[in-house]
Amino acid sequence: MPSISEIRKDYTQATLDVAGVTKNPVDQFKNWFAEALKAEVPEPNAMTLSTVDQYGKPSARVVLLKGVERNKFLFYTNYQSQKGKELEANPACALTFFWPELERQVRISGISARVDSKASENYFQSRPRGSQVSAWASPQSSVIKNRELLEQRVKEIEKRFEGQQLLPKPHQWGGYEVTPFEVEFWQGRSSRLHDRIVYYLQDGKWIIHRLAP
Ligand SMILES: Cc1cc2nc3c(=O)[nH]c(=O)nc-3n(C[C@H](O)[C@H](O)[C@H](O)COP(=O)(O)O)c2cc1C
Repeated sequence: MPSISEIRKDYTQATLDVAGVTKNPVDQFKNWFAEALKAEVPEPNAMTLSTVDQYGKPSARVVLLKGVERNKFLFYTNYQSQKGKELEANPACALTFFWPELERQVRISGISARVDSKASENYFQSRPRGSQVSAWASPQSSVIKNRELLEQRVKEIEKRFEGQQLLPKPHQWGGYEVTPFEVEFWQGRSSRLHDRIVYYLQDGKWIIHRLAP
């Protein structure tokens, strides 16, 4: 078995250049996302959401991208979770995708805002009933005594909504959309001389640069 320091992989699959990317990073993201789907990357919509609390303490966790609409990146969560509280105090955040099968990373920095509750309601209604019940049952990010307590809450919620076809969305559950102001596309290259193409939003226009790896 190799030691951690011995694990290394050379990246050789593809190249990336300023001349080969779209003018808008969201279009470029959509192109790369389609390629990730084609390459059958497992959970290609899993992304690391990084947030910073009011004291500057960072935290990160994986969430699922649920759409790219009107040039915004959408995900759903519990507004009272740690990330929810942090985004309320400081809406700046980062989204990071890693698609190893394509030797690619995408980094997005942006400003988050809650999506309107009607859109969250519509998406909530499209989820499997089990996920809906869990959203009601789980006080996400709160300390709980044990798992039994959670399972007990699930039973209570199932009983409460018994015979009711549609579960309403819990008020503390919903979406955030992230409006990007900086997006970087990273393509792994041989000997760590990777390609990095970054978009900065300046005066409403996207400026494109190459960054050193
Ligand atoms: C693959 C994967 C997908 C996840 N998707 C979501 C999601 O879409 N929304 C969510 O709130 N948590 C999701 N989670 C759980 C979060 O990573 C995290 O545990 C939870 O949201 C609590 O985070 P917080 O305490 O920082 O708020 C996912 C975890 C994994 C590993």
